[in-house]
Amino acid sequence: MPTLAIDGRTLHYQDRGAGDTLLLLHGFPMHGESFWPQLDHPPQGARLLVPDHRGFGESSPGIGPLLMDDVARDALALLDALAIDRALVGGVSMGGYATMALLRLAPERVRGLALIGTHARPDDAAGKAKREATARETEEQGIEPLVRSMFPSMLSPGAPEAVRERLSGILLATEPAAAASAARGMALRPDSRATLADYRGPSLVVHGALDAIVPVDRGRELAQLLRQHDGHCEYQELATGHLANLEAPEVCRAAFERLRQHAEAGES
Ligand code: MLT
Repeated sequence: MPTLAIDGRTLHYQDRGAGDTLLLLHGFPMHGESFWPQLDHPPQGARLLVPDHRGFGESSPGIGPLLMDDVARDALALLDALAIDRALVGGVSMGGYATMALLRLAPERVRGLALIGTHARPDDAAGKAKREATARETEEQGIEPLVRSMFPSMLSPGAPEAVRERLSGILLATEPAAAASAARGMALRPDSRATLADYRGPSLVVHGALDAIVPVDRGRELAQLLRQHDGHCEYQELATGHLANLEAPEVCRAAFERLRQHAEAGES
């Protein structure tokens, strides 16, 4: 498995397929393997890059809260190391927050944007307090209570048993310290609505109508923000739960391919 050394840490990533780079950032509290349908069957014409965020999967941990800017900076370092100037960039849920951070930090590196099961607003005071409670509980009791509380909300009732089992294994393998640091980091993320409203390139928003973690009106809001300018935005509202990439991989794959084509057409 390829790795990259950044500031004395090891960033593990997966690199599949060939063509235009599609960088995908994973959600919480998972690791890159949570994109298994995409990794097994990359979109046509795309090279898929999927890093494990600091402390997750096989990547070494950072120090303190995992800021969304930290995830974005590691992703940019990966693009630099592979001499990739611009990429299609996307993420699921927390990975979407990190995608918006990357767009804020380095808009010139983004050829197209893919946001799945995510939203642009910051946490309110109650949300921040809940993150801190989650972080403490996870540090004290391990990952199981967090997985027990989140798992029922991650997939729709109709999700296949094989998907449930594989996802559950990924969640339960997460290091409690990584989950705690990401919970604290998500609480510190800024409002990204203006960043999206300023973006003019092609984009894709996929949201599960049955998402029990990020309500579907937040996905619709993303599409509205991205449609304020002339840039192309495809909005797909699917009969899935939070993790549409796991429940509707073929629809996502086709949508990634259209995003790639729109990016290419916009540059020619
Ligand atoms: C995720 O799926 O990445 C998280 O549930 C996002 C969040 O807690 O805001």
